[in-house]
Amino acid sequence: MRLRHCGAHLFLVMPKIIFHCLDGERREIDASLGATVMETAIDNDIDGIVAECGGACACATCHSFVDPEWADRVPAMSDMEDAMLDSALDRDDRSRLMCQIEVTEALDGLEVIVADNEG
Ligand code: FES
Repeated sequence: MRLRHCGAHLFLVMPKIIFHCLDGERREIDASLGATVMETAIDNDIDGIVAECGGACACATCHSFVDPEWADRVPAMSDMEDAMLDSALDRDDRSRLMCQIEVTEALDGLEVIVADNEG
């Protein structure tokens, strides 16, 4: 948990992650620092993100698309993530595994277009 002082007040730092859901809904969720985007999605019942392997980078069922505006601000993709993403049917240049992106203050406002990993 991270707190920030502002005058006499203390605020809990909770970056917002914006999910563009499969049904077209836009959900803005307060995420916990240190959680992954996948964990944030699972905790908030975002359909499409399944996470069968629990975040071990071994299933690709947490695949989704990072808005291109954010491509340079998310952590770089590892070789392991890159290889695992090859099993995602609808992979494109925006594709990432959500279990490999940790929520940080710098990602406040991150926009994710959810891929259908249940189909
Ligand atoms: Fe399995 Fe991300 S949860 S690869």
